Amino acid sequence: MKIAMAGTGYVGLVTAVCLAHHGHVVTCVDTNEEKINTLNSLVSPIYEPGLEELMKQHQNQITYTTDYTSAYKNKDVIFIGVGTPEKKDGSANLDYVFAVAKQIAESIDQDCIVVVKSTVPIGTNDKVESYLKTLNSKYRIDVVSNPEFLAQGTAVRDTLHGERIVIGAENEQAMEILKQVYLPFGIPILTMNRRSAEMVKYASNDFLALKISYVNEIANLCESLGANITDVTKGMGMDSRIGNKFLQAGIGYGGSCFPKDTKALHWLSVINDVELKTVKAAIEVNERQKIKLYEKALKQFGDLKQKKIAILGLTFKPNTDDLRDAPSLDNVPLLLDQGANLYAYDPVGMNNFKQKFPTELTYCSSVEEALQDADVCFIFTEWEVFRKLDPSIFTSTMKSPIVYDGRNCYDPSVMKQHGITYISIGR
Ligand code: UDX
Repeated sequence: MKIAMAGTGYVGLVTAVCLAHHGHVVTCVDTNEEKINTLNSLVSPIYEPGLEELMKQHQNQITYTTDYTSAYKNKDVIFIGVGTPEKKDGSANLDYVFAVAKQIAESIDQDCIVVVKSTVPIGTNDKVESYLKTLNSKYRIDVVSNPEFLAQGTAVRDTLHGERIVIGAENEQAMEILKQVYLPFGIPILTMNRRSAEMVKYASNDFLALKISYVNEIANLCESLGANITDVTKGMGMDSRIGNKFLQAGIGYGGSCFPKDTKALHWLSVINDVELKTVKAAIEVNERQKIKLYEKALKQFGDLKQKKIAILGLTFKPNTDDLRDAPSLDNVPLLLDQGANLYAYDPVGMNNFKQKFPTELTYCSSVEEALQDADVCFIFTEWEVFRKLDPSIFTSTMKSPIVYDGRNCYDPSVMKQHGITYISIGR
């Protein structure tokens, strides 16, 4: 099928490349010229394992352009995969979605299906369809909701081998066309009305966020009561009704979805007078959890002035260069305010971090360099290279081996054997 994708971020680009992988011919549109130039040289502007390889493999089926007028012509299906960032009041900013809808209405030259892949508040697909119909009455445009469930770092795998594809449509014909788009993926397709499909996305993300906040609260209580969260979650996870995923305690969730989607659904629930109190609690718990280790360190040391602090991990999770709502962004300013000297290392996130903090931190080229002569070490992201470290590295390099681990990377008893003061979460 001939497909256009508006937006070349994590969702738009990965989906476009995976659609090409399954035989579709895809035109990617983005207003950012620099990004399009990068893509045209077959380089991915985002760090996502496996993505660049697929871009190269299917280069003959994918075009990248800033020219939306020509991009939306002669297309059977046009996906909207642009961002819906958080507004000050917590609601989702839909400006990009409607800006793209306007461009589509102005450019198409045949009937088409518009698929909203961006995460949008329930009822938005209805509004997009009315808007398109107001602007263009010449062609038939059906709007279909098709939320994405890809996680950064595993986005290609999640898209090609996802557990379900959700399609929300208001008429059979549009539903059928979308089913044809996804048939080659061989993934179970779940059909429903548009509002339900929009809700599946929020309800899923918020449930996972809630699961994490719940586990983090239990972890905090474990600390007070002498229980060990690793054993506790192992025991919980073996109950198939609970499941063993997303039970990893730590310094809270970040990223482009959970923080924004919890706030957006909570906002929507409040304005509809059915406040989601559980989601509100998950948000509050997460905010506190992010700075939990900083608070512990402050209590331990009194102040952190002139302390040499090693920071391992800056991104919101491993295998991504994304910093959105990463706990490092909460902790670094607090540590700087304390007058600490920060030495950071992250395998791929340092360039992005440098754009926010160009001179305030010393950026190191290895774990060893960051740890050298440090008074304290904070771990904010559980990159595999950190997990695999031999604990002796902390004793051989640091001035005093004190490690605050926000991602429970190591076995506390092993750390103790090495003479390391080890503070983790819930153990
Ligand atoms: C998430 C959803 O998983 C995905 O389906 C959706 O489409 C987008 O949002 P993503 O934000 O990329 O994906 O990452 P995810 O792996 O879900 O992790 C989100 C955050 O939760 C990270 O900060 C991670 O460290 C944290 N997390 C995750 C935990 O603290 N504990 C866990 O057990 C799992």
